[in-house]
Amino acid sequence: MEKISVKVCVGTTCFVMGGANLQELNDIIPKKYGDKVEVTGSNCLGLCSINWEYSKAPYVKVDDEVVSEATVEKVLEAIDKKIGNK
Ligand code: FES
Repeated sequence: MEKISVKVCVGTTCFVMGGANLQELNDIIPKKYGDKVEVTGSNCLGLCSINWEYSKAPYVKVDDEVVSEATVEKVLEAIDKKIGNK
């Protein structure tokens, strides 16, 4: 099975809008999924500037799927869904 890649945006907008809490994922993901999932920080994914006023930051990408207004729960859910599908 290919590794699932999780990219947590640590660009300014996402960080300010709650991305700081998502740093927890760096601990939770390896504990929960071992080496099945790789979690990395990413510079601005370019998503925050598309529609600034309605920005749904923070953003996280789980493979190609964008999780907007991301929370730890939402990201784990997206990962679980992927694992279930593979
Ligand atoms: S700062 Fe996260 S998408 Fe731009």
